[in-house]
Amino acid sequence: MPEYKFITVEKKGEGVAQVTINRPDVLNALNVDVLKELECAFYELEQGGDVKVVVLTGAGEKAFVAGADIAYMKDLGPTGAENFAELGQKLTRFMERSPLIFIAAVNGYALGGGMELAMACDIIIADEKAQLGQPEINLGIIPGFGGTQRLARLAGTKAALELVLSGRRIKAEEARELGIVNRVTETGKCLEEALNLAREIASKPAPALKRAKASILEGTDSTLEAGLASERRNFALLFDTHDAKEGLTAFVEKRKPQFRNM
Ligand code: CAA
Repeated sequence: MPEYKFITVEKKGEGVAQVTINRPDVLNALNVDVLKELECAFYELEQGGDVKVVVLTGAGEKAFVAGADIAYMKDLGPTGAENFAELGQKLTRFMERSPLIFIAAVNGYALGGGMELAMACDIIIADEKAQLGQPEINLGIIPGFGGTQRLARLAGTKAALELVLSGRRIKAEEARELGIVNRVTETGKCLEEALNLAREIASKPAPALKRAKASILEGTDSTLEAGLASERRNFALLFDTHDAKEGLTAFVEKRKPQFRNM
């Protein structure tokens, strides 16, 4: 694993890694270097093959990520801004297309690019004190790392319009009611809960994890017909794996399956 300046990568037991964005003095704001380090770390974890679930969180007590780095953005022109948005969108798309499962442990503010990064994760667990929002409008800009698209898909067009146009911050519980957050925990407990869920998911057979994620995410981006075709294909491909044969046979033989992640 390469040396990183702005993130830390730790293995947390079998099949689980924790990636922490570590710029607490600026509430873990995302600049070009952070985005590149995250992409590099996720790529390395994916290639390494021993990690199935990544828990993503922010260092310090206050923030998951308070957004893209405003100090960096203030001097950008349109070309620089487009390149920056492309970098953020490339990272978030990589996460969605990766066989790795991403769980965001939202331990505080998840604003702007921070909320966008969380929404690109497969599951979001948030502390009750966390606040989420797309406050870009207050800076005279709009979300650029996929927020206008993913928020509308997750919470609906009307909720996305209200949140992006007003820039209003919402508490974790409201985000859960809107379908953005999966679970809300007591303050200080979201990382522990995210790691526990990560370990549970990591105990499942890798081929089925990969196919389940691909089928759900491909489906949300397409017509029902195309989504069903994707599900059929992903379902069928599993019948060529050791783990599907083993899982089905073990059930019939009334014994515990011995998965080999293949
Ligand atoms: N970029 C750069 N620096 C940031 C930052 C950001 N997004 N958010 C906070 N910081 C810095 C502050 O400038 C401050 O630095 P100094 O100590 O050097 O002054 C430090 O982090 C601590 O922040 P505050 O003193 O402001 O802390 P607070 O508790 O009073 O307020 C906050 C917390 C409400 C989150 C506030 O910091 C804030 O509003 N931050 C900006 C949130 C925001 O607008 N995010 C969207 C960014 S745009 C974007 O993300 C575009 C995109 O989609 C790609």
